[in-house]
Amino acid sequence: MIMDVAANPHRAISVAVDALKKGEVIAVPTETVYGLAADATNESAVSRIFEVKRRPSFNPLICHCSDIEMVSTYAVLDPVSLRLAEAFWPGPMTLVLEANPSCRLPSRTTAGLNTVAIRIPDGFSRDLIRSFGIPLAAPSANISGKVSATTAQHVRDDFGDEVPIILDGGQTKIGVESTILTVRNGGIELLRPGGLPVELIERVARLPLTFREVPGTVVAPGMLTSHYAPRACVRLDAVEVMRGEVLLKVGGVFVSGEGECARVFDLSPNGSLAEVAANLYATLKEADELGVSTIAVVTIPNSGLGLAINDRLRRAAAPRSLTPAEVALGESRSA
Ligand code: TXA
Ligand code: MG
Repeated sequence: MIMDVAANPHRAISVAVDALKKGEVIAVPTETVYGLAADATNESAVSRIFEVKRRPSFNPLICHCSDIEMVSTYAVLDPVSLRLAEAFWPGPMTLVLEANPSCRLPSRTTAGLNTVAIRIPDGFSRDLIRSFGIPLAAPSANISGKVSATTAQHVRDDFGDEVPIILDGGQTKIGVESTILTVRNGGIELLRPGGLPVELIERVARLPLTFREVPGTVVAPGMLTSHYAPRACVRLDAVEVMRGEVLLKVGGVFVSGEGECARVFDLSPNGSLAEVAANLYATLKEADELGVSTIAVVTIPNSGLGLAINDRLRRAAAPRSLTPAEVALGESRSA
C-alpha cells in the first residue's frame, strides 16, 4: 500500500506506528532519500530489513532519532560531535559515535561494532520517530547496490509487495544520502560525502575535515566500490555523446553529438548543484529504463554538493564485481 502522507499525516503516523510495534519493515520518506525502516531495538525486525534489502550482514544501519536526548540513550556525544549535532540536526548529517555501553542496540543493527551511526532527520520521519518513541534503523530503501529511492514509486519498483506499507512524502528534497562524519582525536573525518556540504561543516566546526578512504578497506562498510549502480554502464566526464547513448548534462551547455543520441536529460538547466542532487537518482533510473547500454555524464564541479554527486557517480561507474579485499572483508565480518 502506498499511503499519501500529506493527505493525512496523523493517520499515516498511526498506521506506521502500529506496523513498527508489530516488528514490520516500512518505507519512510526522509529529506535525503527514502528509508527502509524498522524498530532499531527489535533484533528480528532489523534482520528483516537485511533480508528484504538483500544487504550483507556486515554493513551496519543508521539509527534515526527524534532528539538529542534519544541519541544520548544509545550513544556518547563527545564535545565536537555535540557541536555538530546542535548546528546540523535535524538534517542530512550522520555521526558515527561510540555506543553507550549501558544501552546497546542489538548487534544486528550495529553489525557488532562498538560504534553506532546516528542521524536526526527532518520533517515527517522525525515526527514519526517522536511518536514511536524508539529509534528507527533505516538504510536507503533500495535493493543493496542499486540506485537509492527518491520517490515512493521507486521503492515500489524495487520491492513490490515485500514492503507492505510505503509512506509517500513526494520526491525527497535533497536527493542524495546524508553526509557521514566521525570525530577522532578531536578532528572530524568524512566517511561519506552527502547532502550536507563539507564547506559548511568546516565553517561551523572551525576545523578542517580529513577524508578517510584507505585503499582496500571499507571504512563505512557500505562503501563498496560498486554501489548506486544502474543496469547501464556509466561513462563519466563525457565531452561528447555517441549515438545510442543517453546524455546527462548540466546548465544547458551543448554537448557534441547530443542531436543524435538516444535522449538528453539536463539535471539542472540553471546549473544548480542542489537541483542536480535532487534529480540525480530519478534521472539515472529513467535513463536506465530506456534500455541503453551507456549513460554518459558530463563533468560536475567537485565542490559543495558536487562532492556527494561525484562520489555517487564514481560508484555508479565502477566495475560491478567486488574486489578481493571487499570479498574478504565481507566474509570476515559476516562470519
Ligand atoms: O540519508 C541517509 O543516510 C539515508 C536515509 C534513509 O537516512 N540512509 C542511508 O543508509 O543512506 P545506508 O544504510 O544506505 O548507508 C549508511 C552507511 C553505510 O555505508 C554503512 O556502512 C554506514 O552508514 N555505517 C553505519 N553504521 C556505521 C558505523 N558504526 N561505522 C561506520 N559506518 C557505518
Ligand atoms: Mg544505501
